[in-house]
Amino acid sequence: TDRYCVFGHPIGHSKSPAIHAAFAAELGEAIDYTAIEAPLDDFAGAWHDFVAAGGRGANVTVPFKEDAFRLCEVLSPRARRAGAVNTLILGGNGQTYGDTTDGVGLVRDLERHGVTLAGARLLVLGAGGAVRGVLEPLLTAAPASLVVANRTAEKAERLAADFRDLGEIRGGGFDEVTGPFDVVINGTSASLANELPPLPDDLFAAGATAYDMMYGAEPTVFLQWAGERGARGVDGLGMLVEQAAESFFQWRGRRPDTTPVLEALRRAL
Ligand code: ATR
Repeated sequence: TDRYCVFGHPIGHSKSPAIHAAFAAELGEAIDYTAIEAPLDDFAGAWHDFVAAGGRGANVTVPFKEDAFRLCEVLSPRARRAGAVNTLILGGNGQTYGDTTDGVGLVRDLERHGVTLAGARLLVLGAGGAVRGVLEPLLTAAPASLVVANRTAEKAERLAADFRDLGEIRGGGFDEVTGPFDVVINGTSASLANELPPLPDDLFAAGATAYDMMYGAEPTVFLQWAGERGARGVDGLGMLVEQAAESFFQWRGRRPDTTPVLEALRRAL
C-alpha cells in the first residue's frame, strides 16, 4: 500500500484524509492517506522522515506551502510562478517534485458551476499566498480583464506586475475598484474573522458570480453580502475537492469523479 499524507499545523480538522480515502475507494486504488502535524521549525525533516517510512507523496497546507516550495528539487512551472507547493511527489529517482493544484482546482470548480471565464471581467480580492496561487490558471482562461484589489494596495500592484506577461491584469486598493464584474473571487482571509472588504454596492454585472475560497455550513459574510446585491454565491468547498482530485491525479495518474465526494462533504458540514 502506497503512503500519502497531508502536512499542516494544526492539521486536526483537515478533510483531506476523508477526500482521498473516498477517491481511492471509488477507483479501487490501494493507498493509505493520513494527516501529519509537522513541527513549525522543521518541515523538510518531516517530509524526509515520511519518505523514509514509505511515503510517496503529500499535500501541504497552512503554514508550510512556502517551506515545501523551498525543499523541492524540481518544480512545475505553475508552482514556480505561485511561489508555493501544495503537492509533493516522490520521483522514481528519489527526487522531490513540487506542484500546486489550488489554482486549477478553483478553475475546475468555477467550470463545474457553469461560470465562463473566457471574456469575463474578473475581480480577485486579496494579495496573499492564496491569491498568488490561483492567478496563473485564471489568466490562462483568457478573461477580458483581471483586477486584483487588496487592503494593502502595493501588494496587489506588485502581484499584478509579476503576472503581467500572462494577460490583462491590474492591481490596487479596494477604493480603486469600479465594477461591474462578471466574477468576483474573495481570496482574503477576512471571512475567517467575519469581516468584509470595503467594496462598492454596484460591484456585480447582471448574472455575476461571487466566489469565496472559504466555506462553511452557512454562507460566508462575503457571500451573504453578494447575494443581497444580486450575485450568485459559490463557496470554496468545491475548490478543496478539485485541488485534491488534481493532486490524486499527479500521484496516481487517474482522475476521480469529484461530484459524489463533494456532495458527501456538503452534507456533513
Ligand atoms: P493567505 O495564504 O490566506 O493568502 P496571507 O498571505 O496572510 O494568507 O494573506 C491574507 C490576505 O487577506 C491579504 O490579502 C490580507 O490583506 P493585507 O495584504 O492588506 O494584509 C487579506 N486580509 C486579511 N484580513 C483582512 C480583512 N479583515 N479585510 C480585508 N482583507 C483582509
